[in-house]
Amino acid sequence: MATLADAGLQFTSLPHPAPMSAERRAQVLANPGFGTNFSDHMVSIDWTEGQGWHDATVGPRQPIALDPAAAVLHYAQEIFEGLKAYRQADGGIALFRPMANAARFNQSAARLAMPALPEEVFVESVRQLVAADRDWFPTVEGGSLYLRPFMIATEAFLGVRPARQYKFLVIASPAGNYFKSGAPAVSIWVSEYTRAAPGGTGAAKCGGNYAASLVPQGEAIARGHDQVVFLDAAEHKWIEELGGMNLYFVFDDGTLLTPELTGTILPGITRDSLLTLARDEGLTVREGRYSLDQWREDAASGKLVETFACGTAAVVTPVGKVASRDGEFTVGSGGPGQLTQRLKDRLVSIQRGQAADPHGWVTKLG
Ligand code: PLP
Ligand code: COI
Repeated sequence: MATLADAGLQFTSLPHPAPMSAERRAQVLANPGFGTNFSDHMVSIDWTEGQGWHDATVGPRQPIALDPAAAVLHYAQEIFEGLKAYRQADGGIALFRPMANAARFNQSAARLAMPALPEEVFVESVRQLVAADRDWFPTVEGGSLYLRPFMIATEAFLGVRPARQYKFLVIASPAGNYFKSGAPAVSIWVSEYTRAAPGGTGAAKCGGNYAASLVPQGEAIARGHDQVVFLDAAEHKWIEELGGMNLYFVFDDGTLLTPELTGTILPGITRDSLLTLARDEGLTVREGRYSLDQWREDAASGKLVETFACGTAAVVTPVGKVASRDGEFTVGSGGPGQLTQRLKDRLVSIQRGQAADPHGWVTKLG
């Protein structure tokens, strides 16, 4: 693997003048929620045409100055990642498949006409931030330190073309359960809006995809559901994914199915890990198409026994109820299914260093 020096980068550490008090931090860590609390530090690296990546710092988390004409504010040239650092059974800290996030970040960068960030710089940035914020791990069951690397176009220019200046940042947020309700299974709403069309940006992790999902997600919430599920753009028939998670279906013969990566859904790292873990157990997993009509029919006949959502933030979350303009149906018992729970336990125990890591997914940070 190339080194940081190969990329011509060295991190400068800036001291924090006023970190959060230990007392206040302990309160936050006992009840972190999701995405509302932030650690003391951040990483920042700049990119300019000609000079490439430079000025890598790990320092106090603070507002960033942006010219009002910065391209990100007008044309949404922005990409991000989401990964977690986990406190290990032995007291250490580890990341889960950070190189996979680094690779996906560069795939997103390519789609949004942004510069690639060397994968070792991505991972080192995350390491630097976790080291600076090592006192920011939640004390609640299932807690972790959620890391959000992202890149924005900072050049002040209103012509529509790829910017010539960017900023890469990493922030951290102590995280508990993604779903506030804490219910054993979530309820999802089938949207008539489209998230992504063939040839679009559905496979990239760019902010614009999430901006477009806010109205459909708002509709789901207004109707009393937890998340929105999107169908394909062309036929409005095939199940794609949720606003922020991939989906798996479990059948009565013990097989699993997950929507195939057609270019319109995000290639989830949790989805990919579960494909491997399920196959390790000797289970048959197909990547293919599954229609809403078939889902409804199979749930009614009992052929479909479980459905679950998966993602970094949501981990593995059972889906108990599905609603659309045509009515509602219940999946299995409406609560967590057995296979869902088993796969979740398997994944979480690897992430937290409670089980062997046969695929080399865990990167220990010491
Ligand atoms: N799909 C969408 C739209 C997402 O935002 C996410 C979350 O990152 C996922 C799927 C799951 O991806 P991962 O498992 O890599 O977190
Ligand atoms: C993640 O799981 O990391 C995401 O980015 C999804 C978002 C719903 C928080």
